[in-house]
Amino acid sequence: MLIYDQLKRDHEKLKSMMNRLEATTGRAVKTRMELLQELKTLLLAHTKAEEAVFYRTILSDDSTCDQALESLDEHKSAEAALAEIEDTDPKSDAWLQRFKFFKRSLEHHFEEEEKDLFKKARKIVSRDEAEELGDIFQELRIEVIEDLGT
Ligand SMILES: [Fe+2]
Ligand SMILES: [Fe+2]
Repeated sequence: MLIYDQLKRDHEKLKSMMNRLEATTGRAVKTRMELLQELKTLLLAHTKAEEAVFYRTILSDDSTCDQALESLDEHKSAEAALAEIEDTDPKSDAWLQRFKFFKRSLEHHFEEEEKDLFKKARKIVSRDEAEELGDIFQELRIEVIEDLGT
């Protein structure tokens, strides 16, 4: 599978997990916490593998380098926002507010990757290479999930 399809499939999975989480209430704390941990693992696996495979490639080209750097910053922001959510009382309204902000930012990030960066990457990466990157991404993603012990 091409790297773009792999990444997009992962985005869809993460988006549906975020929708499920957004629908939880402060009374279902256990579910909320469990889903958040699951989301954290899958998000970290996604971003780590994406950085090592996709971003590594687009950082090396002048046409995508600046935008790639900006987008990488958003990975850091997402991690920080997630840490903040973890430090917030899961029964509180603040928790849901922070989560909603995090979700919106991340959805926006996915959209930019899909609509903009993938399009630009297609111009600098051959189809064979994109297929190969897709395989490497998949292997790496699984490795990170295993390392995180989930
Ligand atoms: Fe990303
Ligand atoms: Fe992504």
